[in-house]
Amino acid sequence: MDAIAQLVTGRPAVWLRPSAGQAVNKTPITAAEIHDAELRLSRFRPVLSALFPAAGWDGRVCSPLIDYPQQAGLPSFLVKADHALPMTGSVKARGGVYELLCRVEALGVMEGVITPGKALTALASEAARSLLSKHRIVVASTGNLGFSIGVVARAFGVKAEVHMSHDAKAWKKDRLRCIGANVIEHLCDYTETVARARAAATDTGSYFVDDETSRLLFVGYATAATELAEQLAQRRFEIAPGAPLVVYLPCGVGGAPGGITAGLKTIYGNNVICVFVEPVASACVFAALAVGKGSPISVYDLGLNNETIADGLAVPVASGLVLESIGASIDAAVAVTDAAMLEWVRRAWVEARLRLEPSAASGFAAMSLFLAAAHAANAAPSANAVHVVWTTGGSLLPEDQFAALLASTTPTVRG
Ligand SMILES: Cc1ncc(COP(=O)(O)O)c(C=O)c1O
Repeated sequence: MDAIAQLVTGRPAVWLRPSAGQAVNKTPITAAEIHDAELRLSRFRPVLSALFPAAGWDGRVCSPLIDYPQQAGLPSFLVKADHALPMTGSVKARGGVYELLCRVEALGVMEGVITPGKALTALASEAARSLLSKHRIVVASTGNLGFSIGVVARAFGVKAEVHMSHDAKAWKKDRLRCIGANVIEHLCDYTETVARARAAATDTGSYFVDDETSRLLFVGYATAATELAEQLAQRRFEIAPGAPLVVYLPCGVGGAPGGITAGLKTIYGNNVICVFVEPVASACVFAALAVGKGSPISVYDLGLNNETIADGLAVPVASGLVLESIGASIDAAVAVTDAAMLEWVRRAWVEARLRLEPSAASGFAAMSLFLAAAHAANAAPSANAVHVVWTTGGSLLPEDQFAALLASTTPTVRG
């Protein structure tokens, strides 16, 4: 049975790029652009550590690279632990927050709080908060992007208007309201929520962080690649044709995995194999690659319902910008079931004490599926490959939510 026939019947499925290894590296993001983003993030470190004074945090948005205990039937692998990123507990602390910082810097200059090219520390002052409170930022989200931008925008005093799709978890909305964000709930999916939020931002002349089309967001995610490359080099992993890097990236609209892929392909070219991982019901990048000839198509048109326990990945149509920019660089797309993600939430906790939400556990579930399909297609990565599962959110899950996930046998889609 082919990959799409498998997918539309609700089963896990794997799409491999025909003629494996021939993914084209045509990312429009330049190394200079990524470097510029790294410099900006570095300049913001004193400001972020002042606004989020967690014990010992130096303001660096970075996550550890962890060895996962050896598992029967799987190659040894590492975890890139973005679920533990500071401030927001998700990968959104990279792209979404990066775009927000660009905006805050521009507002700070406009309000005369900082001088271009000079230190940014004044942005953490009460005077800056009061001046920045005149400005609004609007964002739409299934949960984590809105949560991340809301939390960091409010820390700077900026008004945050967060449009949440019906997938968003109640605790994320509650926490945002507690810190003074305006949360607008929509009884519709992510794609429609983005359209409504974009229209609302245009009506009020507010700045809109556009998850579907933003280049800044994309560049922010791409900085993760340099960080991973440094960590691999420190650990003396040499990525080369006979020892490729294989990354398993949870994918919603595609911005986070797309930006990371752009960064990794810039560094490693075809020596990195980028596997995008989605829930079966929301496999929009899979659908675009396998059916849409690389252009976005809706999963509803394939008879899938976009109902998944993985709220962060509940997206029916992939970003056109992402597909256009790095669609040709994606080596494989894997669709995993809700049950498999839930199982890995449990395993990651029991085996490695990683506190993950279901979206963030999808990469683990994809590994054996990808390897079996690649093997069957005579395209298996070499035994020397370095496998990295990217975990993308969950460290801030409230205790009761996490306990419910651990205890749950049937996936509950909303709540
Ligand atoms: C935990 C988690 N992982 C991965 C993603 C995927 O990011 P993107 O929608 O940019 O593909 C999201 C998006 O919200 C998320 O919340």
